Amino acid sequence: MSDDPFPPGFVWGAATASYQIEGAVGADGRGESIWDRFAHTPGRVADGDTGDVACDHYHRYREDVALMADLGLDAYRFSVAWPRIVPDGTGSVNAAGLDFYDRLVDELCARGIAPHATLYHWDLPQALEDAGGWPARATAEAFARYADVVARRIGDRTATLATINEPWCPSYLGYRVGVHAPGRTEPAASLAAAHHLLVAHGLAMQAIRAAAPGTPAGIVLNFEPKRPATTHPLDLEAAIVEHDQFNRWFLDPVTGLDYPEAGARAWGWRREEVLPGDMALAAAPIDFLGVNYYTSRTVRSPLLPPLDDAGAPTERTSQGWEVHPEGLTEALELVWSRTGDVSLYVTENGAAYDAADDDRTRDPERVSYLRRHVEAARTAIGRGVPLKGFFVWSLFDNFEWHEGYAHRFGIVDVDFETQERRVRDSGRYWASLAAAQRAAAA
Ligand code: FCB
Repeated sequence: MSDDPFPPGFVWGAATASYQIEGAVGADGRGESIWDRFAHTPGRVADGDTGDVACDHYHRYREDVALMADLGLDAYRFSVAWPRIVPDGTGSVNAAGLDFYDRLVDELCARGIAPHATLYHWDLPQALEDAGGWPARATAEAFARYADVVARRIGDRTATLATINEPWCPSYLGYRVGVHAPGRTEPAASLAAAHHLLVAHGLAMQAIRAAAPGTPAGIVLNFEPKRPATTHPLDLEAAIVEHDQFNRWFLDPVTGLDYPEAGARAWGWRREEVLPGDMALAAAPIDFLGVNYYTSRTVRSPLLPPLDDAGAPTERTSQGWEVHPEGLTEALELVWSRTGDVSLYVTENGAAYDAADDDRTRDPERVSYLRRHVEAARTAIGRGVPLKGFFVWSLFDNFEWHEGYAHRFGIVDVDFETQERRVRDSGRYWASLAAAQRAAAA
């Protein structure tokens, strides 16, 4: 492994999301979100877990920021809960909700930690879902108003503002597969949702530019490099379709290209919801693009017989996700091929591993996972990718969506009975990276 320092000013951070850590779902006028409704619907989330309490970060944010300062983090990526700000999605603004993020941002700044805020990490106000959800264009318009309100209040102090986190998940998992909120399984609605998430991004970019002109603004997308299982033409075609539908579906429009053809054809999409001007809206100039990367996938055509995969054992996390550090280099290069000089961040990378029975803070697998992905990021930088920072997912063990609390991603262990936080070895490793960077810059 290379000992070269990362470029000066490279940011070492950690990431979380509102519904996954905040708890306090009924506090201070917060409205219901689709994840409250979904988690409280029997059978939707493993073990009936909900985000009702989670890490109780809403009440403990001061001590949590102190912990980040102890770790020496340069930056913290969090998301704003839309139902705290506009509880019913379109009506009055809830001052108490805005006050919370104002206090959080102030606390971070006071500790020298740069706040990186994301406006949408999947907790749509339930009232908007009741009115049609993301398949309805009006949701994108409501999002623009919400973006304006938040940018006006905290945009003066945030290091970056991202519009939407991983639009693939709410559109595909939420409306096509139904394993995420709102749990619908409607292919046409899923494609409309995907398009409206991009319209929402474009409208929110305009709102942010007007409300917080100096603040770098962008979007966060997820990537999963696809490898054809063999060189059989059908495997190649299947990999291209998945690549289009996963890796290019949002990246291409955001960077001024059209929706990718093979993926659109395979979905039989009729583009009925694409209005004149929408592609230009989605392609609004961005200051940065956030790259979330966890795993890569080998694609076998469904038309060919399944392959016997009894060959070399594949390394997997406790969630079963394959570990492929080189996929992070590939994802960064893919994005770079579209974005050129635009700053990139790894906005999420990390892994779920079961805690050791005797000592919950020992996590050698996570340390190894992170080390190898940091090296993959370094490789990308060496090839010219303008990567500016790396946020580990996640600062804390938290509510992992439909999988509940079973899978732990934290560099800090959370005891959900007592709310005690304990830094894991991976947290110490992350702190040492940030410290080495500061020492190199001094
Ligand atoms: C990403 C999500 C994040 C977390 C990780 C494991 O897709 O953005 O909230 O659940 O996966």
